[in-house]
Amino acid sequence: MTQFASFVDDVELRLKTHRLGRPLRSFPELPSTNTEAAEWANAGGPAGGVVLTDSQTAGRGRHGRTWHAERGRALAFSVLLRPAMAMDRWGLFTLAASVAVTDVLRNLSLDPAIKWPNDVLIDGKKCCGILLETGMDGASQRALILGVGVNVNQESFPPQLSATSLRLALGRPVDRGPLLAQLLLRLGRRLDELASDRGKRVRRDYRQRMYGSGRRLVVRIPSSDERCEGILEGITDSGALKLRTETGIRVFHAGEVTTHL
Ligand code: BTN
Repeated sequence: MTQFASFVDDVELRLKTHRLGRPLRSFPELPSTNTEAAEWANAGGPAGGVVLTDSQTAGRGRHGRTWHAERGRALAFSVLLRPAMAMDRWGLFTLAASVAVTDVLRNLSLDPAIKWPNDVLIDGKKCCGILLETGMDGASQRALILGVGVNVNQESFPPQLSATSLRLALGRPVDRGPLLAQLLLRLGRRLDELASDRGKRVRRDYRQRMYGSGRRLVVRIPSSDERCEGILEGITDSGALKLRTETGIRVFHAGEVTTHL
């Protein structure tokens, strides 16, 4: 049995979720789990279905960037969701996903922070990225694909990436099977919370764990090259970023946060 096959077996044995990961589709290699999950959604795939791979040849990040993950040392998976709530509230899934990742990392005795909207940092370096995508055509309109990439056991990164892994942060390797089973369990719980209290607890925990709160920083809008400096005030109830600038409070629905002024 390959290392990947025994990892997948381990995840399935440990899975305690009601919906997430049922079923779990696994592939030794894929272009991107988000693309695979979107195709699955178009073909009628079920809410809660998860696509998992050991290596992506065309992994995607936000703002058209590439996401690279070393085979056998990272987690790359996508969850297919079919939210009942109105699409203008789907931003809450971004918050729920990043809070769920921090729930798991905190249980590993780490102290993660969330850089808006959904990068998870340890000691200011990125260890997890989340990419939410919606379906493209009529059949998939009510599908939401939540792609998660976690740096687990990588031992080094190019310095320009400002990235870290759980192994580097903890000083020991981390078993991917229990980690993924926990991530799906916590994500399921946070999604249930969204449904039961309209995002109250998710927002509370997101605000507490937010990177840069009360600090001066810059928000860049990649599509327009605009940059705006101010004090990070927090998020609105729908998850948009609030920045206090010289001309008043500005709200951003998209953009990139940086502390390099
Ligand atoms: C980011 O930080 O820019 C988001 C990175 C998201 C990467 C994950 S890995 C699994 C899923 N498949 C992809 O192609 N991307 C996401």
